[in-house]
Amino acid sequence: MKLGVLQETYPDERRVALIPALVPHYAKLGFEVLVQSGAGIGAFHTDAAYQTAGATVLPTRTAVLEQADVILTVRTAGANPNFEADLPHLRAGQIWVGFMEPLFRPQGVAQLAERGATAFAMELIPRITRAQSMDALSSMATVAGYKAVLLAANLLPSMFPLLMSAAGTVSPARVFVIGAGVAGLQAMATAKRLGAAVSGYDVRPATREQVESVGAKFIEIPLEIAEAETAGGYARALEEETLRRQQDLLGEHLVQHEVIISTAAVPGKRAPMLIPRRVVEAMPAGSVIIDLAAEWGGNCELTQPGKTVQHGGVTIVGAVNLPSTVPVDASMLYSRNLYHLITHLQKVGALPEPKPDIEDEIARETLVALNGRIVHPRVAQSVG
Ligand code: NAI
Repeated sequence: MKLGVLQETYPDERRVALIPALVPHYAKLGFEVLVQSGAGIGAFHTDAAYQTAGATVLPTRTAVLEQADVILTVRTAGANPNFEADLPHLRAGQIWVGFMEPLFRPQGVAQLAERGATAFAMELIPRITRAQSMDALSSMATVAGYKAVLLAANLLPSMFPLLMSAAGTVSPARVFVIGAGVAGLQAMATAKRLGAAVSGYDVRPATREQVESVGAKFIEIPLEIAEAETAGGYARALEEETLRRQQDLLGEHLVQHEVIISTAAVPGKRAPMLIPRRVVEAMPAGSVIIDLAAEWGGNCELTQPGKTVQHGGVTIVGAVNLPSTVPVDASMLYSRNLYHLITHLQKVGALPEPKPDIEDEIARETLVALNGRIVHPRVAQSVG
């Protein structure tokens, strides 16, 4: 089979779906690797490096699209507003693998399917132990959580660590991280390493131990929710009234901090709005909010995706695509996630012939479209 790697077309995307170091590994799996010229440039991988590793570099995107049986991407379908330009060149039966926003923006997958494509969505890798090496949402969230803290430190008009000097004492910055998933825990750990006083909160009580294990203080908010967590370990979306109560109780803590990193998310749903305008207005001037949920509606009422806005002396960053700002490590991690998935799909017999009723959970859960038909029930439901 021919494996194609495209240059990403999402605005300012610098990651690439395959780093040269993995080309020989794909060759061992029996793939011939085709790379669009310039595909790796944003992550500092030259065409020559791909060629040395054994790939064929093709001069145009169209050439890769027309020849490859499997296309590896970082962002396509609903995760890339520019993906429609690829549709006329897509072949029926071609297999696409990448981030696709299959639940939140499912029309993209529907368009891929209309062209007869088969698609595996990286967002749907189940969070189970044996899929950890393929879990691209987690590896990218790790990068984003780290980078969010650096952004905050850069924008904050004070320092993060406690400093004692002859001239006086600098108190540590007070950082509050909302959401103790992958991005949140990494943000807490990074802020802690920079010397801040860090607090963390999550609607799932089970996260207390994890928050404390990275050196942050767990903030408890009594909401009396019967079941905060799904069987898959994700948070449930809260009822309107509980969410309002949460905003009020959380707000009392938030206004005592000068940095908020918000990462609260419920898969496939709009992000919960936890920082209303009134809380922003009560924060100390100079405070910084980094909203990692910006692309999914934002955790802060005043967030504008992709923009940094000021409101009464508070800076609110609608952080979008942070992993792309750390393209070297993000590409390495993502390429490895994809490689582990492809290896696995081959092993369980889901490649080269994907099957929707396959027993293997990873293959079944990630397959969203097969030869033009949407085969994933939740995605089909989202498309309507
Ligand atoms: P995750 O699912 O591991 O963590 C989200 C956490 O939010 C969970 O622990 C969940 O319990 C918690 N949560 C849900 N509802 C809540 C509520 N009402 N109150 C408090 N906590 C609540 O997700 P992950 O991988 O850590 O990603 C976090 C967010 O960051 C997601 O929105 C993700 O899409 C986003 N992200 C953003 C990037 C960017 O560049 N802006 C890059 C990567 C991820």
